[in-house]
Amino acid sequence: MDLQLLKKQLLQDLKNVSSAQDLQDLKVKYLGKKGEITLLSKNLGKLTQKERPKAGKSINELRVLFEIKSGSLLSKIEKNEIEESLEKDSIDISLPVNNLQNGSLHPITRTIDKICEFFSSRGYLIEDGPEIESEYYNFDALNIPKDHPARDMHDTFYVDVETLLRTHTSPVQIRAINKRSVPLKVICPGKVYRSDADQTHTPMFHQVEGLLIDEKVNFGNLKQELTDFLNFFFKKNLEVRFRPSYFPFTEPSAEVDIMDKKGWLEIMGCGMVHPNVLKEAGVDPNKYSGFAFGLGIERMAKLDYEMDDMRLLFENDVRLISQS
Ligand code: PHE
Repeated sequence: MDLQLLKKQLLQDLKNVSSAQDLQDLKVKYLGKKGEITLLSKNLGKLTQKERPKAGKSINELRVLFEIKSGSLLSKIEKNEIEESLEKDSIDISLPVNNLQNGSLHPITRTIDKICEFFSSRGYLIEDGPEIESEYYNFDALNIPKDHPARDMHDTFYVDVETLLRTHTSPVQIRAINKRSVPLKVICPGKVYRSDADQTHTPMFHQVEGLLIDEKVNFGNLKQELTDFLNFFFKKNLEVRFRPSYFPFTEPSAEVDIMDKKGWLEIMGCGMVHPNVLKEAGVDPNKYSGFAFGLGIERMAKLDYEMDDMRLLFENDVRLISQS
């Protein structure tokens, strides 16, 4: 075919291209094994030696022309395709969404946070201790020897002869003194376990232990600290009473009760740290004294959320746990 004519036809074909596939077809038509330009090159041999260089050059120019034109066409086509798909898949951010349910903190967590907020503001450090505890820290070091009747009150879950699930957060008292020495101010929120279940008891519950040791600490300091705390926590003037009680690791000891709808509710045990406990932890009871308290979180939450049954706190009904 005449070269001029072929060039015209090629340019026309390129104009009609609308997709990458069209372009691929054209490539086959012109540069494929039996393509028009390929055939021309093959026929060069039939020309005279004089005609050959000029014809060869023209054929080559035509091939280059095709490659340049088809190259720029391809990038245009690809760009269009990307834009088209972006247009098609675009997200309409003004569309209303399905009502997503927001997560929220569990009432127990909120209660612990609120308690920690108060005591942190008073300079207490937040301490941690193991839930699987040794008999020594849970009982012996707290002035509760093997044959002491107080061990019965604890309904202990034993792991083996000398290992148990801690029945209270008080073992952290000893651990904290060992770790930090005195003077010190710590609180420790955490889980505790007792083999007990009814409307007011669950086998796992939470306590916050508090411990302050310094020179010349007295029971008045303890009363003041806990009264300030309860006023902060409930933000209203609840009736509070300190009732004499007994714990082997405090002397004197008291139970703190709060007036609930149904009467007095016991929420915490407290007292002055027993000299035997200080001695066991390597602290001189003639120089230092201190107070300790153990607060029941579920009972605080129950009062704060005005709940009748503490077991609700562990059923994870979203209607309850999404309340703030
Ligand atoms: N550990 C006691 C309990 O679980 C509470 C307590 C803590 C009492 C600290 C006095 C001092 O009942």
